[in-house]
Amino acid sequence: MQAETGSGPAAAATELAGGLEAHRRGDLAAAERIYREILRRRADFAPALHYLGILLHQREHSEAAVQHVQRAAALEPGHAVWANDLGNVHSERGELAAAANAFRHALELGGDDATVWNNLGAVLERAGRDAEAEHAYRSAIACDGEFAAGLNNLSRLLANLRRPHEAAEFAARAYALPPHEGKSPEMLGLAYCRLGRIGEAVDAYRRWCQAEPDNPAAAHLYAAVSRTGVPARAADAYVEQIFDAFAANFEDKMMGTLGYRGPQLIEGAVARLFAPSPSLDILDAGCGTGLCGEALRRYARHLVGVDLSQGMLDVARRREVYGELVKSELTAFLATRPAAFDLVVLADTLIYFGGLEPVLAGTHAALRPGGVVIFTVELPDEATAADGFDIAPHGRYRHGRGYVEAVLARCGFALLSVEAEILREEHAQPVAGLVVAAGRP
Ligand SMILES: C[S@@+](CC[C@H](N)C(=O)[O-])C[C@H]1O[C@@H](n2cnc3c(N)ncnc32)[C@H](O)[C@@H]1O
Repeated sequence: MQAETGSGPAAAATELAGGLEAHRRGDLAAAERIYREILRRRADFAPALHYLGILLHQREHSEAAVQHVQRAAALEPGHAVWANDLGNVHSERGELAAAANAFRHALELGGDDATVWNNLGAVLERAGRDAEAEHAYRSAIACDGEFAAGLNNLSRLLANLRRPHEAAEFAARAYALPPHEGKSPEMLGLAYCRLGRIGEAVDAYRRWCQAEPDNPAAAHLYAAVSRTGVPARAADAYVEQIFDAFAANFEDKMMGTLGYRGPQLIEGAVARLFAPSPSLDILDAGCGTGLCGEALRRYARHLVGVDLSQGMLDVARRREVYGELVKSELTAFLATRPAAFDLVVLADTLIYFGGLEPVLAGTHAALRPGGVVIFTVELPDEATAADGFDIAPHGRYRHGRGYVEAVLARCGFALLSVEAEILREEHAQPVAGLVVAAGRP
């Protein structure tokens, strides 16, 4: 038997290892030299052909790359990894059908694999084959439930398919994965809440409070999820912070994505009680950007808007429908205007108040006899909270119908109407609430 020479399979494998090492550290010139030297002596050495093909692709000689990778696969057809590599080369060349075939072949050869399923999903999505792409991404996640790329891709696809509820679920799963360095603690807490992992949300917000002891959002959300130290109403600094930041996008987000119905529901309730003549002194309490102002103007002799957020008030001012816009905390403001209004409207404002007695007693005092308050509240989902109120993990308060009616009675109001309505959507799920009208006798 002949002794193995420098051109034998063992020598080629040793040289190949050197080539792969150079390739890995990014020394493409050295790697190419080694692969070509191996192939000069053994033109059918499939691994050298394959990795030279990958290298040529990196150097943007992708026509030659495909030929090399395909020839390697023809010589040694059993490598799932090579089939996946071929799929990636086709994919980057925009050859979507060929890429999908290669990824499917890789799955046949190697069995289920999260990366390959995800690659297949990505080319199917680019080809507009959404249902197949969804199946591929879901298969990737079935292989590995913590595969961030698959979770993110599926979330994006579902969002594009207008299935935001499911999209949010997968986005939250991806966001909650480590590493957490550099991630927004607020988003991390929200992701945990979305997944029902309240204990981890509490821990995330506690760490946030420790890192930023003066951040009112950290304190508020920690209180909301831990249900400890829940404030009587959202702190002024918190309300200002979130709405100043939100002001520029508020209307697009509320009226677009969230399908906010507050202004139209308030308008309907006003129209049932008053003739449309500009005869009333009206307070839009927590007026925000003034979404209710347009409708209220038709009834107003004098329309006042009050809000804590200067950013929101600046947008409201540009509407030119308010006779007066005041930057103030609402309960304090009400105390300065005894018996001044015929109508007080609170659209989506009481979700920042826990116990309603102070603000509704203040409203009562700010109304003239015969005056009316119209407001919306969000309903708690647990039946147990029907006669009370709670704070949801997202930091907004929710009030039960029995509780609202009892507080109104205690404050001296006569109930005029209570309508169950959908106020808006959250992740494509309806947010149930009440539209309430009550009068000062
Ligand atoms: C969800 S927005 C609703 C805005 C507007 N009413 C609408 O329907 O579009 C709630 C508004 O209430 C304001 N707000 C919350 N708590 C407040 C308080 N204690 N005093 C004054 N304004 C408050 C916020 O600044 C924000 O502009």
